[in-house]
Amino acid sequence: MRTVKSFVKRNGRITTGQVFALKNMWCKFGIDYTEKILDLKKLFGNQSPVHIDIGFGDGNALIQEAEKNPKTNFIGIEVHRPGIGRCLMEIRKKELSNILISSHDAQEVMKSQIKDDSLDRINLYFPDPWPKKRHYKRRIIQTEFLNLCAKKLKMHGIFCIATDWRNYAEHIDSVIDLNENFTIKIRLIHKGEGEANRPSTKFEKKGLKKGHLIWDWVLKKTN
Ligand SMILES: C[S@@+](CC[C@H](N)C(=O)[O-])C[C@H]1O[C@@H](n2cnc3c(N)ncnc32)[C@H](O)[C@@H]1O
Repeated sequence: MRTVKSFVKRNGRITTGQVFALKNMWCKFGIDYTEKILDLKKLFGNQSPVHIDIGFGDGNALIQEAEKNPKTNFIGIEVHRPGIGRCLMEIRKKELSNILISSHDAQEVMKSQIKDDSLDRINLYFPDPWPKKRHYKRRIIQTEFLNLCAKKLKMHGIFCIATDWRNYAEHIDSVIDLNENFTIKIRLIHKGEGEANRPSTKFEKKGLKKGHLIWDWVLKKTN
């Protein structure tokens, strides 16, 4: 496992509602980090398909997907406390019972807590682009990470990636090209017109405001 983290913990502003949600809802909707494989069937109380959203930010897309697909289970992984608090508040407001949240490094969660061949889909929407050359090593999408995701997906499982940074998109293309586990089902470059068949996200909107294009990939595990 690489030791370089793909995030830096920020002490952003946190509201009293978010603090309350973190304190009072974690016992019901939180997954604590341990080095033991999770029993997903026991955690959710059913055998429905499981999707993971890595770095869900404010949780908007995750909440929308969970609302739209009540027969799918979702695990959201995020390290930014205000985002986690906000997402927990939405889970309660919308009375969702198909989302659980992890607040630990997604790379470690995937490696230590997720069983091989167990996921139906992984969403990685607008990962931190780390645009400076000296920070490229922090980018979460690397060969090792793609291999890890492939290992955790079921055969024919789906891996969705989106970015609004051209240079990161080129890097993602080159990492995908080298990988033998995935077949590219969709690769789109667009201006956010909703062609991507996923909810729009906060960082997609930010990118569009700056005049960025959006790249979307839908990969299927075929090997
Ligand atoms: C640019 S934001 C995108 C948020 C959201 N997906 C969106 O599109 O609005 C990337 C998020 O990934 C989170 N993140 C980065 N690396 C992570 C990791 N290894 N584990 C969990 N979260 C991570 C960051 O905290 C940040 O909130």
